[in-house]
Amino acid sequence: MGTETNGEARINEEKTKNLKAQADMWKYVFGFTEMAVIKCAIELGIADFLERNQEPVSLNQLSVALGCCSSSLYRILRFLINRGIFKETVTKNGETSYVQTPLSRLLIKEGGNSMAAFVLFESSPVMIAPWHNLSARISSKENNTPAFDAAHGKDVWKYAEADPGHSNLLNNAMACDARVAVSAIIDGCPEIFEGIDTLVDVGGGDGTALRLLVEAFPCIKGINFDLPHVASVAPHSNGVLHVGGDMFNYVPKADAAFLMWVLHDWGDEECIQILTKCREAIPKDKGKVIILEAVIGENEEIKGNEKLKDVALMLDMVMMAHTSNGKERTAKEWAYVLNAAGFSRHTISHINAVQSILRLQETLSKYGRSNDGSGPQVDLAHLLATRDQELRTLKAESRRMLRFSAFAIQTIRLFGFRHLIYHSQSLEFPIQLDKRGENRDSGGASIKKKTLVGKVTKPPEAKKMRDSGLFLENGATEQLSLNVL
Ligand SMILES: C[S@@+](CC[C@H](N)C(=O)[O-])C[C@H]1O[C@@H](n2cnc3c(N)ncnc32)[C@H](O)[C@@H]1O
Repeated sequence: MGTETNGEARINEEKTKNLKAQADMWKYVFGFTEMAVIKCAIELGIADFLERNQEPVSLNQLSVALGCCSSSLYRILRFLINRGIFKETVTKNGETSYVQTPLSRLLIKEGGNSMAAFVLFESSPVMIAPWHNLSARISSKENNTPAFDAAHGKDVWKYAEADPGHSNLLNNAMACDARVAVSAIIDGCPEIFEGIDTLVDVGGGDGTALRLLVEAFPCIKGINFDLPHVASVAPHSNGVLHVGGDMFNYVPKADAAFLMWVLHDWGDEECIQILTKCREAIPKDKGKVIILEAVIGENEEIKGNEKLKDVALMLDMVMMAHTSNGKERTAKEWAYVLNAAGFSRHTISHINAVQSILRLQETLSKYGRSNDGSGPQVDLAHLLATRDQELRTLKAESRRMLRFSAFAIQTIRLFGFRHLIYHSQSLEFPIQLDKRGENRDSGGASIKKKTLVGKVTKPPEAKKMRDSGLFLENGATEQLSLNVL
């Protein structure tokens, strides 16, 4: 047995790479089988039956219960088990049986985190057909008819309007994502809904997202706004009013507008039109727009979310196949659209979902705009140092206003902070705007007593704050450190 020469090692390495490339390519050749077999498992109700039986279920029991040919069912299960969907186990009496896994639980037809409706929608012949037109859509030699329109003669929304069965499939698919995404917002960023009395969900589908939000924040009155054929069949839920209309014409008035997976269906110009209507619908001074969308290159930075990067890129392809101008956007592309629609500032927050939260605020006048405290968590020192003339003026003015602490209030309101530690040569104290005060539109300097709660760390400053009419109390939390230069 001789030692492998360098040349042989290179050849072997090359062979291994080629073999891997072939194996990878076979996965793509038969990529559709995964979707098709998962769809088959949902239709047969395998996950539902296993979920109902807490004990492992034998092949015989399963095939009798589901009315299936046992040898075919066995092959389906073997394929899925190989992918971690369902698990094989041996019972005490030596019988091979099947149980659920976290993945197979997502295939239960009804249930909190179920993704079954999404699978059934995306694997429906209507949604599969446009994929055959993808290259024609992209090729500059063709007439560039959107892929969906080329397959069905109309766009996806008109198609759904004309086919109630398909519309139902679409609404159910969106509702199953809404359940996951909304619980991620409620867990991750509940504070964005503070101070909102009325919330309009623009393109809200069957109202699932709003129902969950209203359940979590019962003070909110919800308006679920969607096309008439969607709103008219949306199920009743307490605290939610379904309104039919076209968001390109108008958006019902509310304290805040919520858009989840709506803007990605549209091109930049259309997004600007929709956002302009949202801007008209919310109060000028304290209105909010909350957007839930994927941001390419963002959310996957969070540990555990790495796999979501590919989901955002897949969604981008889905937009290409199913919509006329829709696309997933990078942070820079979002900034362009949002700025063009008149929202000069926005923040992006990450949650445990494929979408991130984009919070928008209108263009600011010099000091006048109040906002609600859910605004950007930015480094004010950096902003003061780097931003434009308006901020330089603000910085100069801040020095004069320090004595009265009013600038602190202006700063909080201007930048949307709820909490800050205010540092300067003469002052250092944490300040927290309370829930009521932050949203009420009192002018900065005349802000009412009790609208500021601060913990004063230095006695002379306590006096200054009291002198300026601020209500002081211990217990400021979640402070953000700011340096006012
Ligand atoms: C991708 S779905 C998102 C549904 C929901 N926001 C969710 O995430 O579960 C897009 C929604 O926009 C609605 N839509 C499309 N065009 C619209 C229009 N011109 N006016 C209002 N809603 C529209 C559709 O009917 C659909 O319900």
